[in-house]
Parts: sequence; structure tokens; C-alpha cells
Amino acid sequence: MDRQTLTALAHADHPISAPLNDRNVAEVLDRAIRRPDAHLLDLGCGEGAWLLRAVQEHDGVTAVGVDIWDAGFDATRADAERLGVADRLELVHQDVTAYRSDRKADVVLSVGAAYAFGELLPALAAARGHLAEDGVVVLGDCFWERTPSPELRAEFENGPQSYADLPTTVARVVADGWTPVHGHVSTPAEWDEYEWSWTGSLAAWALDHPDHPDRDQVLATSAAHRESWLNGYRGVLGFVTLVLRRTP
Ligand SMILES: C[S@@+](CC[C@H](N)C(=O)[O-])C[C@H]1O[C@@H](n2cnc3c(N)ncnc32)[C@H](O)[C@@H]1O
Repeated sequence: MDRQTLTALAHADHPISAPLNDRNVAEVLDRAIRRPDAHLLDLGCGEGAWLLRAVQEHDGVTAVGVDIWDAGFDATRADAERLGVADRLELVHQDVTAYRSDRKADVVLSVGAAYAFGELLPALAAARGHLAEDGVVVLGDCFWERTPSPELRAEFENGPQSYADLPTTVARVVADGWTPVHGHVSTPAEWDEYEWSWTGSLAAWALDHPDHPDRDQVLATSAAHRESWLNGYRGVLGFVTLVLRRTP
């Protein structure tokens, strides 16, 4: 089974690909959307779950999501049709680094997707380029809740991406010219819900499809992920979602 299909299965019960529960997703969107006709752009939107919530809960809001992975787009478009909001949600299958638009966004989201630009600051630079004058950025990224072992650091900081502790992470963002107007640090319960859902959805699918040729692979992927979480990054890796406005 290819990685895209596996990922789609893993997110079956948790369409947001980040450790936030529904209440906190709604809260972050409420804080970020400052006008009834706001236009949203999500750089690395996954299946588009944040945007579907936004257009569903905020009449008049329009949204464009961009992702290099489109396996979840059809299901989200079908949900949008069913909910009567399809005309306000567009999903674009493209590399975000190549995405260009003449339309500035009132809200630019990058949640768990800063790595598409290398890391946090280049992601903020890209968001700034797409942002309307008085716009808001929703940035979600990992940080180290506790000092990681060298092995864990190597596992999560491959390539240009590196993480810091929470105060340093926020200080980097502030030094880049942003003022946080809201923030949410994912709770241990949100992390557990996310990881159990990810690993559990895969395991349940494998057990429900005993004769499928990919069953063993899916079961093994679930078990490996669960091990690396429980014996590795649980309680060490954190996730913060910041609502940011430009510092005057
Ligand atoms: C952890 S997921 C987060 C998805 C979504 N923001 C959410 O919170 O549900 C990261 C997403 O970034 C996307 N991504 C990574 N590199 C990308 C690139 N160069 N262009 C577009 N999307 C990219 C991945 O395909 C993936 O869907």
C-alpha cells in the first residue's frame, strides 16, 4: 500500500492531521477569522479539514487549500457538497512552494506543514507573501516539551528542520515580526487522542481486512508508529498553534 493511502486510512477518525481536538480547532478559527467574508489560504492543507470546518462554521468565508498530496481531496469535496459549502472551498493539488495567487488571504494557515518550506521562518515568509495587509497567520508547529535524546532529535530533525523549546519557538516568531494574539499548546490528552486514533484506525482496518494483501504491512506500520510514540516522543514532543498578526 502506498504512503498516501496509508495516511488517508490513519486519519479516518481524525481528519485534522495535528494533535488538536474539535473544540480547539474551532477556537483557533474563531480567533483567526476577523471578518464575515474572510478569505483563507491553507499551505499544506492535508485533506482540507481545517478549511472545511471554517466554511462550515463561518457563513461567507471562502477558502483555498493547497497540498502536494490529494488522496483526501475527493472525500472532503464530497463532504463539502453534502454540507452545501462546496462553492466556498477550493482544493488545489500543487507544491506549496510553487503556488501563486493574485488574491491575498485574510488568514493564511500552515499547521504541521512548515517543513514544506524547510522550517518555521521560511514558512512564515511564504505566509507573509500571501497575506492581506491586516491579515492573520495560523502557524502550527512542533517544539521540544522536554530535551530529546540524540536519537529522537535525529529522528525528527532531519533536513533543515530543527525544533526548540516553547519560549524559544515563540521568541523566534516574535523576532520575525509577528505578535501572537492567541495560542494553543496541545494537551497530553489531545496528543494521546491523535496518536491512538492514527495507530488505531490502521490497526482496525487491518483486522477488518484479514484477506487483503496489504494487511500485514498496515498492521506492522501501526505497531511501529505506536512503539515509536510510546517509547519515544510521547511527552517529549510538543505542538503549538499560534494565531499571529504582523507587529507594527
Ligand atoms: C502534518 S500534515 C498537516 C495537514 C493539515 N495542515 C492539517 O493540520 O490537517 C502536513 C501536510 O503538508 C503537506 N506538504 C508537505 N510538503 C508539501 C509541499 N511541498 N507542498 C504542498 N504540501 C506539502 C503534506 O502532504 C501534508 O498533507
